Amino acid sequence: MSLKLNPLHPLFAAEASGVDITKPLSPQMVDAIDDAMNRYAVLVFRGQPLSQDEQMAFTLSFGPLDLGFKKASNQHARLKYKELADISNVAEDGEIAERSHRRIVNNMANQLWHSDSSFQNPPARYSMLHSVVNPSSGGETEFADLRAAYDGLDAGLLAEIEGLEAEHFALHSRFMLGDTDYTQQQIDAIPRVRWPLIRTHPGSGRKLLFVGVHASHIEGLPVAEGRVLLSDLLEHATQPAYVYRHRWQVGDLVIWDNRCTVHRGRRYDLSQRRELRRSTTLDVDRADVHALASEASVVY
Ligand code: OGA
Ligand code: MN
Repeated sequence: MSLKLNPLHPLFAAEASGVDITKPLSPQMVDAIDDAMNRYAVLVFRGQPLSQDEQMAFTLSFGPLDLGFKKASNQHARLKYKELADISNVAEDGEIAERSHRRIVNNMANQLWHSDSSFQNPPARYSMLHSVVNPSSGGETEFADLRAAYDGLDAGLLAEIEGLEAEHFALHSRFMLGDTDYTQQQIDAIPRVRWPLIRTHPGSGRKLLFVGVHASHIEGLPVAEGRVLLSDLLEHATQPAYVYRHRWQVGDLVIWDNRCTVHRGRRYDLSQRRELRRSTTLDVDRADVHALASEASVVY
């Protein structure tokens, strides 16, 4: 089988077909998907309903798995593996969550433009989101290509921001949303990290503008100035021309590269069920996986 790619947007994102992702992948297929990711940054696989085990196996072909935000919160375990993020509005008991439930705050935070786990080192490389139940309308996911955002920066602004670094903090988006009830231990669980605003995407060699809602301020600038600059840059990066909007069908798996894209969920009726599952790889070399094995519930 060979991987077929059908572009979904003038700049990035493609539908991928010609492979059964519920089955183990050959090393050649893993390389073909990696190559396609480096070019397109977002790949959509349609009509591939995955069990939790199959999703884990597929994701593990691309590297060790990220726990992300779970390190800072006691999220319920509706799913079988702690490496699967429950991207839903469903509570522990299987019913749609009350509006006051922290799960709904998580839904809201996911509706702000971000790159998964940019608040930690190592951050996330690939996120893989699988659709299980959809609301009747809304609830799409949008993606923006940060390489296109870099290409579109005007020279004056580029000169101003070159060399600047932003601090990223796991709970920044939660604090912004008024969700502040965290213990010191939870606050300290994920140390803050700094990333340059301008980075190079290793997969394509292209430069990109690294912004998103986890960026809390800019090093060396007063907080207010830095935040306004970050918000302007994010607005630039997510202008409609740089955005692909994905309308979910049950059985879709969408993979995105967090090193060069940001994404956000769109509003939907919270009284309707929406269930997706996310698995995420860490941005590390495959050779470094052993250092991470102690935290994991799977064997690398
Ligand atoms: C995620 C996420 C957005 C959505 O799973 O990382 O941000 O549309 N999801 O649910
Ligand atoms: Mn996300």
